[in-house]
Amino acid sequence: MRSLRTGLSLAALVTGAVMLVTAPAAHAADTPLRDLAAAKGKVVGTAVTGSKLTGSYGDIAGAQFGSLTPGNAMKWGTVEPTQGSFNWTEADQIVAFAQAHNQQVRGHTLVWHSQNPSWLTNGTWTSAQLSSLLQNHISTEVGRYKGEIAAWDVVNEPFNEDGTYRSTLWYNGLGANYIAQALTWAHAADPAAKLYINDYNVEGVNAKSTALYNLVKSLKTAGVPIDGVGLQAHLILGQVPAGLQQNIQRFADLGVDVAITELDVRMALPADSGKLAQQKADFKSVVAACAAVTRCVNITVWGFTDSDSWVPSTFPGYGAATPYDENYAPKPAYYGIAEALGGTTTTPPSGSCSATYGVTSQWNTGFTGQVTIACTGTALSSWNATWTYGAGQQITQAWNATCTQSGAAVTCTNASYNGTVPDGGSVTFGFNASWSGSNPVPVVTLG
Ligand code: XIL
Repeated sequence: MRSLRTGLSLAALVTGAVMLVTAPAAHAADTPLRDLAAAKGKVVGTAVTGSKLTGSYGDIAGAQFGSLTPGNAMKWGTVEPTQGSFNWTEADQIVAFAQAHNQQVRGHTLVWHSQNPSWLTNGTWTSAQLSSLLQNHISTEVGRYKGEIAAWDVVNEPFNEDGTYRSTLWYNGLGANYIAQALTWAHAADPAAKLYINDYNVEGVNAKSTALYNLVKSLKTAGVPIDGVGLQAHLILGQVPAGLQQNIQRFADLGVDVAITELDVRMALPADSGKLAQQKADFKSVVAACAAVTRCVNITVWGFTDSDSWVPSTFPGYGAATPYDENYAPKPAYYGIAEALGGTTTTPPSGSCSATYGVTSQWNTGFTGQVTIACTGTALSSWNATWTYGAGQQITQAWNATCTQSGAAVTCTNASYNGTVPDGGSVTFGFNASWSGSNPVPVVTLG
C-alpha cells in the first residue's frame, strides 16, 4: 500500500508527440528511501512543518522518511514566545506523527543565536541569570521529550567562517564553556538522546570544520557528553565540497557519529533539466559520502518539497533546492538519493513527460486523487491524461482539469491556464470519485 500512498505508483511516458506506454517509470521509487537507507544501516530524514502533515505532504513524509526534524517547532522562540508561557503544540504534533509512522525525531535546536524570543534577546542578564535561563530551557524542553528524541542538535552554529567563536548572546555572556554546559544539561535531562553540535559550511575540510573538529576532540577528552556532529549541508548547485567524505571520516575517527542534518542544493531559478541533472549528481554524491562511512548515521533533507523550503525567501532568486517539486513530483534529485542508497531506480529518461497518479485521501465510499504531469528535457503546451478504472470507480468532480468518464474510460484535459508544462516543471490536477470493494491504481497514459 505504501506505493499507493506516496502517489508514485504507476506512470506512462510520452516522448515528444509519440506516446509510449511503459512499465511504471517510478518503479524503483516503489522502495521508499527509508527502506533503502535502512538496508544500508542509515536513516534518511526530512525537516517538516507540523501544520502540513496531512494529504500528499503527510503521505510522503510518512512513507519515504525514517526521521523527522521539526523545521522550526522546537526552537526557543516557538516554544516559549513569552517568558514562562510555553507552546508545544507543533512540536507535540510532529513527535506524535513520527511515533505513528515509526520514525525517529531529531530535536532542533536548543542553543542558537537565531529565532530566540524577544524577551530573551532584549533582556539584560547577568551571566548567572543567563546561565540559569539556559539550563532551565534545556531541562524543560529535553525533559518534556525524554525518551522520544533520537538526537538533539544541542548547539547550533557556534562558529564563524574563520573558526573563531561566533559572537552571540551565549558566547558573549557565558564564554565558550556554554557549549560544554549545554551538552551536560541536555545529557542530564535525557541520558539516552544522542547529543550533537551542528553547523553550516563545515562539510569540507576548512578552518571552520577544523575548529569544530578541535572542539569535539577537546570535549571528548574532557568527558563532556558529545555524541555527534551535524553537517548542515546547505549547498549550492555543483559545489559539493571535494573533501566531504574525508571530513566525515575524520570526525568519525574521533569517536563521534556524523549526520547530514539539513541537506538542500539550491540553484538560480528557473530550474531546467540541465540544472536538475546536476542537482541529482550533487544529492547523490552527498548521500554516497555518508553511506561510505559507517559512523555517518543520518541524512536529513531540509524540507522534501520545493513548496516547503526556506531557500526562496532566504536566497532571493534561488530555489528548487529539494528532492520533490512544488507539486510533490519526485525530481531527479530524488532518484540521486535512491541510487546512492543502492536503489535500482532509474531517472525517467530525459526528453520525457510522465503522469503520476495518487490517492491522497480515501473514505468508505469516496476518494480524492491527483495526477501530476512532470516533464524533463522537453515541454508540453497542452495535454490530456487518460486511464481506465478497473473496479467501478466513478469520477464525480475535478479541478485544474476537465474530466469526463464514459463507462470505465476517463479522459482529463488541461484547463485553459495549465496546458503548459515546462522543461523541469510539473502541473497537478485533482478529482473526487466514488469507489466500492477495491480501489486499484490505474495506469495513466499521457497524450
Ligand atoms: C530555517 C527554517 O527552515 C525557516 O523556516 C526559518 O524561517 C529560518 O530557519 N540552519 C538551521 C535551521 O539550523 O534551523 C534553519 O531553518 C536553516 C539554517
